[in-house]
Amino acid sequence: AHITFDTKNIENFVADHEFSEMQPLITMADQQLRNRTGAGAEYSDWVTLPTDYDQEEFSRIQLAAKKIQSNSKILVVIGIGGSYLGAKMAVDFLNPVFNNELSDDQRQGVKIYFAGNSTSASYLNDLVRVIGDQDFSVNVISKSGTTTEPSIAFRVFKQLLEKKYGADAAKKRIFATTDANRGALHDEAASAGYETFAIPDGVGGRFSVLTAVGLLPIAASGADIQALMTGAKDAQIEYSDDDITKNEAYKYAAARRILYDKGYTTELLINWEPSMQYLSEWWKQLMGESEGKNQKGIYPSSANFSTDLHSLGQYIQEGRRDLFETVVKLDNPVSNLDLPHEAGNNDGLKYLEGITIDEVNTKASQGVTLAHIDGGVPNLAVHMPAQDAYSLGYLIYFFEMAVGASGYTFGINPFNQPGVEAYKTAMFALLGKPGYEEATKAFRARLDK
Ligand code: PA5
Repeated sequence: AHITFDTKNIENFVADHEFSEMQPLITMADQQLRNRTGAGAEYSDWVTLPTDYDQEEFSRIQLAAKKIQSNSKILVVIGIGGSYLGAKMAVDFLNPVFNNELSDDQRQGVKIYFAGNSTSASYLNDLVRVIGDQDFSVNVISKSGTTTEPSIAFRVFKQLLEKKYGADAAKKRIFATTDANRGALHDEAASAGYETFAIPDGVGGRFSVLTAVGLLPIAASGADIQALMTGAKDAQIEYSDDDITKNEAYKYAAARRILYDKGYTTELLINWEPSMQYLSEWWKQLMGESEGKNQKGIYPSSANFSTDLHSLGQYIQEGRRDLFETVVKLDNPVSNLDLPHEAGNNDGLKYLEGITIDEVNTKASQGVTLAHIDGGVPNLAVHMPAQDAYSLGYLIYFFEMAVGASGYTFGINPFNQPGVEAYKTAMFALLGKPGYEEATKAFRARLDK
């Protein structure tokens, strides 16, 4: 297997027989997932996506990415939630940390900026200033085609394109990723003639990174989307057994479930590379939206080490004992650095000369794991051998399979998100959206109290 999962650091917390006792629940979950008999099965097409994806559309994505690279310096990617986090995770992980700041000849693809992922006016104004007179294109991504944040941002950047290039040329710089048949964005794209890419019906937002939702921005950034899909395909083959002694994605699902039942109800996804911060943000949506239902589920949180050891470290070591950690450790970073030699030892670092900074990172991660175990925090570990597209595709599928199975062990529908609607009703009511008249009165009265 390319990604490996390690439970040796929960030995003090979980006995071996607890895994075998979890097997029947995992087998039941596996059957629901693969036989499509579980709740929400109509949204489980992601299970076979790495072997079933639309090859013709994949080629069009690569051509569109080339076109964007040939006529633009910047791609503004507009989307939120599942229509944003996967691309952000991959673009950050697969490119240099300061990619947008590099010169054109140092960068492989275009600079990627995200928009439509908040309701902040300052963010939009500042991004318009960053674009300045640089050539740019827009990829607007929305499955429903009606989400407020991306719709607002799309108006702003569409009008900027029209002002800069004229209405007809602007249309050639807009790429719309949306439902194949319906929705406001679908209809606008059809009448304006934007190039469109489809989000398959059977793939929900948080599982959509391996569709055009993620693939177009990732390809435009210069990363290798073919390798990404190959990694996911190899993982699909690897994780096809229901036996948790053979399927590490299911072993992870079982470990999480055992820990949850013992009262470890918050999981921290830990990384040791700043370029992996959005891996955690993507994972939080995947886990939280899938499992957080019926007043149950593991609360997904994250910490970026070593940075957060200087802020959250105290709590993790000695605070409430309901935490466990899953460390995603990159075994070989994309680059390394020797600690510079210095005459004398004024900074007290002489003892580190001769080892690389990545060795410091690895020793720090090993030390932190031991300290956290001693503090009562169970530690799971996922090892990634390389910072590349193949490994990322593999890891994406590992987490998707784990949460699909895990959700069914909780007896919930892992593929819907009814709770996301509650805030929208309140927001639309307060903004006076047509159709919300009664709610508008009720919510405004509550604010006026
Ligand atoms: O998982 C979800 O359903 C959400 O996070 C959506 O992806 C998010 O609200 C964006 O939705 P849409 O793609 O319809 O604009």
